[in-house]
Amino acid sequence: MKKLLIPFLFCTLLVSCNTERSARSGDPIDRRVDSVLQLMTVEEKAGQLTLYTSDWDVTGPSIRAGYKEDIKAGKVGAVFNAYGAKYTRELQEIAVKETRLGIPLLFGYDVIHGHKTIFPIPLGEASSWDLEAIEKSARIAAEEASADGLHWTFAPMVDISRDPRWGRVMEGAGEDTYLGSLIGAARVKGFQGNGISEINSVAACVKHFAAYGGSQAGRDYHTVDMSDRVLREVYLPPYKAAVDAGAATVMTSFNELDGTPATANKYLMNDILRNEWGFQGFVVTDYTSIMEMLNHGNVADSADAAAATIKSGVDMDMQAGFFQYELPQLVKDGKVSEAELNTAVSRVLRIKFQMGLFDDPYRYSDEQREKSTIGKPEFKAASRDVARKSIVLLKNSGVLPLSKSVKTIAVIGPLGKSKLDMIGAWSAAGKGDSAVSILDGIKAKVPSARVLYAKGCNVNDDSTKYFAEAVSIARLADVVIMSVGEAAWMSGEAASRGILDLPGAQQKLVEEIHKTGKPVVVLLSNGRPLTIPWIDKNIPAVVETWYLGTQAGHAIADVLFGDYNPSGKLPVTFPYSVGQVPIFYSAKNTGRPRDPNNKYTSKYLDIPNEPLYPFGYGLSYTTFEYGEVNLSAGDVSANQNLSVTCRITNNGSIAGTETVQLYIRDMVGSVTRPVKELKGFQQVTLGPGEFKDVVFALTPEDLSFYRKDMTFGPEAGKFKVFVGSNSRDVKEAEFELTNEGNSKMEFQVKATKKDL
Ligand code: NOJ
Repeated sequence: MKKLLIPFLFCTLLVSCNTERSARSGDPIDRRVDSVLQLMTVEEKAGQLTLYTSDWDVTGPSIRAGYKEDIKAGKVGAVFNAYGAKYTRELQEIAVKETRLGIPLLFGYDVIHGHKTIFPIPLGEASSWDLEAIEKSARIAAEEASADGLHWTFAPMVDISRDPRWGRVMEGAGEDTYLGSLIGAARVKGFQGNGISEINSVAACVKHFAAYGGSQAGRDYHTVDMSDRVLREVYLPPYKAAVDAGAATVMTSFNELDGTPATANKYLMNDILRNEWGFQGFVVTDYTSIMEMLNHGNVADSADAAAATIKSGVDMDMQAGFFQYELPQLVKDGKVSEAELNTAVSRVLRIKFQMGLFDDPYRYSDEQREKSTIGKPEFKAASRDVARKSIVLLKNSGVLPLSKSVKTIAVIGPLGKSKLDMIGAWSAAGKGDSAVSILDGIKAKVPSARVLYAKGCNVNDDSTKYFAEAVSIARLADVVIMSVGEAAWMSGEAASRGILDLPGAQQKLVEEIHKTGKPVVVLLSNGRPLTIPWIDKNIPAVVETWYLGTQAGHAIADVLFGDYNPSGKLPVTFPYSVGQVPIFYSAKNTGRPRDPNNKYTSKYLDIPNEPLYPFGYGLSYTTFEYGEVNLSAGDVSANQNLSVTCRITNNGSIAGTETVQLYIRDMVGSVTRPVKELKGFQQVTLGPGEFKDVVFALTPEDLSFYRKDMTFGPEAGKFKVFVGSNSRDVKEAEFELTNEGNSKMEFQVKATKKDL
């Protein structure tokens, strides 16, 4: 036995030294990658393309155990759901010291809206329309995650979603392509900071490629079927923006698209992502999505699935184990070439080199840094700042802001005392008990007030047994603050809902409290638009608070008591009724737009066409007046910018921030165009009586679309320009785009960068 072991050990050391030498040589990364590749067996290569969960945190079905043994056997290149400087070091030591080649592991995790300091859920944060604050929150998440042993976050999620039944609407930036693209890019910049070689950065993973948000009927994991035009125009730009911002990796989506699951979709991975967009990083599947193709029915068995996946341009298998088990044989059988395998392995190794893991595999596993970084006071301050900016005032007929000299406040509702729900779904390593509840936030804000609390009902059952207690404390109060909505687990993955009303007995509870005649403020905590027409009609003040993270209670109290004037704007339409879904502002006009006097027009018999709250909507404690929209010219040619100016005046009595939104409509096209498309926004902060002329530069790129022949560019003709406070309440002007004799009106998108 010993005799056998000695040559084995010698060989191990020799190869490790070789790897080490090539890694330290200072060669350009490609040569270093090649030098490692040359040492690897096919089995080791398949191992590098395999990602397993540690099962510390469960983010999908549990299908296997024993990942430590797999690491030791060189069968794993990356691990997810394990974090902490100490634990990642322990796992890394197995990979580095106990495998033949000592190739370091990559540690990934769903750091979606903060790591331990939790920020608002992405949909909430998108309501801030504040790209700087959003980038900063991703930066802080990266600082904390990287200090906690992590190299890689499975974020940003940039799936456009126009169906609030889909629980994952909470993870993205909402319904709009333009806003979603800017936010996706900001998040990548935040996560990756000055580059993934920096110790305080994590590699971003843009997901879920592609069009996951288009799942039929809002049911998670369901089929997606859309035209190439819609795919390219609506769904793809945010992924592209995130890739252009430098995202190191991309994750496939669970859904099929045009009959082929994204996980083995050559059109998406090779043609679009790599060839059209020039993506250089690696692509990972979603959780067991290679295996799930057996259910989709596009492959016959696991070997077929593994071959189809790698050949489509996907490099790493999350959790299915199919690459690990099947690739060696597939290579032997000539069904996958070693060159194809090498391409995928090189992409993975390249990221490991770029992150400095070959130079120091433990550089992220530093307990001292972990201690001194996580939960810094300035991180909490940043979380509170963006949380306040994410709050959307939906209705206020004078109740808000509340006076700090109020004597008795009743806080009523099942979410009022909750800490855990405040951090929302996908809250990574965040702990509920470190969050500030709404009740605690209010108590801290007005220490001299008497603050009473009653749950009133549970979130999700029909019992009314706690109603009486809630009514009795409401009667004692000067104002009632009701905290209702969804529990955090009711949105996120595998959390689709068919009914968008307040769950359980909460609506009834609000009605009972309303009957007391006390002034009521409804605070909504939820991960998706809810249908609340009764509340909108009857309750004087309604505030959308999403799940705001660690500092939720403080941020909400800041807004309730006027220390922060709300400025959030909805990044997603709130339907009046679930029957309107999917509903979004940038719809097409139809041939029979609604006419109340004509039966044969596009409308419902029983509900309005209009949403309850439109995209871009959100009130302030002050009011902003919009002046006329002035254009720099009535006619423009395809290579000119048009400047659009609108005077915004704060005609209220306190300072406030307004997000001024610019929309266009192309009146006639070779294909029909949406009734409105967001093309710009600017935030202005104005004191009482102050005004500002807000100027937008509208570029030829803004006027472009995929024309009938699928070329991208503008078309001559009439356009409308709208400037307003949301997608409904706008002022408008018109101009004409002339073609100056160039019938194709080709223009170079790259040559026209918008500078707002
Ligand atoms: C499945 C989810 O779809 C994906 O977003 C996530 O990153 C992985 N599980 C890993 O947790």
